[in-house]
Amino acid sequence: MSAVVEVSELTVRYSGATALDGVSLFVGEGELVALIGANGAGKSTLVKALSGLVRAESGTVDVRGRLAQVPEGREMFGDLTVDDNLRLGGWRNGRKGRDTGAIYELLPDLGPLRGRRAGALSGGQQQMVAIGRALMGRPDVLVIDELSLGLAPLIVEVLVEHLRELHASRGLAVLLIEQNARLALELCERAYVLEAGRVALSGPASELARDSRVAAAYLGGHVAVNP
Ligand SMILES: Nc1ncnc2c1ncn2[C@@H]1O[C@H](COP(=O)(O)OP(=O)(O)OP(=O)(O)O)[C@@H](O)[C@H]1O
Ligand SMILES: [Mg+2]
Repeated sequence: MSAVVEVSELTVRYSGATALDGVSLFVGEGELVALIGANGAGKSTLVKALSGLVRAESGTVDVRGRLAQVPEGREMFGDLTVDDNLRLGGWRNGRKGRDTGAIYELLPDLGPLRGRRAGALSGGQQQMVAIGRALMGRPDVLVIDELSLGLAPLIVEVLVEHLRELHASRGLAVLLIEQNARLALELCERAYVLEAGRVALSGPASELARDSRVAAAYLGGHVAVNP
């Protein structure tokens, strides 16, 4: 299996503070990979390094194929409509690539909102726009920084189903960052646990879900979404 994302010995510092300390990980073609870790572990920094928003002090980031991301905080163009926000996600694909019809088929809840100002949507609605916008770029790999943040469990389930389907039908690879570790480990095939800027554990998601250290640190307080 060749990798769509390969990170090797990546170190990132913010004015002295080390956010990532020699992190190596990969996402295979069409693979679903979870990245879990406590607040401040360095997850968002890794996402930013993948898209070049932060510079590595050392190490390499190799992205083969198209990468799209759903950034933490969504980053809508609040004054533009939902439809315009979606279209911006497809700007690289020419006129046809800006056709948003497929996204409304995929995320039908967005249809009635298409003319609304994105800034006036709820958090969950904005998250759907952010995912739709990322998919407009027809990515080979989708990086999602906090899928369920602020979303009702039912909406999260819908989104997870969509991700499963995109994975199955188009071979979409996903790097999923998710506070709900149980959800992430259920969806994904493989996972990495990031602790204070280092990969503390990695392996098949099913094995990590059974690991006592993971259970104690990340699964304890969570209620299973699909018990
Ligand atoms: N712009 C910045 N300037 C200085 N330090 C930063 C900056 N962004 C992040 N950090 C620090 O880098 C470390 C990693 O932050 P990061 O946002 O990557 O964590 P995270 O795992 O995404 O956390 P969370 O789960 O809270 O989103 C933290 O200690 C954070 O305080
Ligand atoms: Mg973060």
